[in-house]
Amino acid sequence: MLIAMTDASPSWADLFKQIADAKSATELDALEQSVFGRKEGLMTLAMKELKDLDDAKKKEIAKDLNTQKNKLSESLAKKRAELLSPSSDALAKDEKIDVTLNLPTKEQGHLHLVPEFMDQVEEVFGRMGFDVAYSPEIESEDLNFTQLNIPENHPARDAQDTFWIKNDGKEKSVLRTHTSPGQIRYMRSHKPPFRAIFPGKVYRKDADATHSPMFHQFEGLMIGENVTLANMKAVMITAIRELVSKDAEFRFRTGFFPFVEPGLEVDMRWQSEDSKTKEGDWLEIVGCGMTHPEVLRNCDIDPEKWQGFAFGFGIERMVMIKHQIPNIRSLFPGDLRFLKQF
Ligand code: DAH
Repeated sequence: MLIAMTDASPSWADLFKQIADAKSATELDALEQSVFGRKEGLMTLAMKELKDLDDAKKKEIAKDLNTQKNKLSESLAKKRAELLSPSSDALAKDEKIDVTLNLPTKEQGHLHLVPEFMDQVEEVFGRMGFDVAYSPEIESEDLNFTQLNIPENHPARDAQDTFWIKNDGKEKSVLRTHTSPGQIRYMRSHKPPFRAIFPGKVYRKDADATHSPMFHQFEGLMIGENVTLANMKAVMITAIRELVSKDAEFRFRTGFFPFVEPGLEVDMRWQSEDSKTKEGDWLEIVGCGMTHPEVLRNCDIDPEKWQGFAFGFGIERMVMIKHQIPNIRSLFPGDLRFLKQF
């Protein structure tokens, strides 16, 4: 008989335990229903049975049932509150953060050294007021050579240096051997004064520690009414110091390029794989000079009125000097063991 439960029977004790162990509010609702449910609830039934008892017994048991009822209600309410807002103890246990734990670092990639450097080139020259323009990698023989004042029999056209493209009897094309044809395209589509750079890939049949069949250059051009060699030197020195290093060591010396007069070359100090001295060797990184009047005329620009300078930097060589990389070929295979060092 149910009333037996009232004298601290294990069933009440069980109920308290079940309430304490409840894992969710739904579980708690079910327990509450099983005790206080209006029809079948254990407590409800026990109360109903009181009426059959004699007065003395009724009083005694009713008192006890009341106590249990209050206790049960209390522990249900307490448990419900606990389930809704976990105690700070539970929080401390479940949500604790171990600040001494070494979490795996999230790998973050970065640009390859060459495109990273090219972005910097555009930024540095952008600040000096230079426009950026791109020209095709497959170029006509005419723009790659002839319009730049490189005559038909000049050694630069030699099959040794150049990748020719089959032409099926049409005008011959080449994989451009330098970014200089960008100058011609720009001068033919813009009116001076102007200043611009032309970055991109160039191709030559060459391969050793300082040459690669594909590499990057950026060409520069500044044409105006009073542009001089002194302006050229200022622009180039600024660029070298900003792009490579503040205390970069370099030298200007005369050089010959058919599309400039006078022509100069700039070398920078670097440690090659077989440098014999502590100071290292000189490496040519740029050709430059005052734009040849014939080239200006080829672009319909009057050399009596306009003059200026042009330069062509070798990007990989600057990157090699900047990061002290002894062999140009390390820059191309995409080997992460190499790239992650920077
Ligand atoms: N185009 C030349 C080369 O690839 C480099 C060069 C030299 C560019 C002199 C220039 C220049 O603009 O003025 O070897």
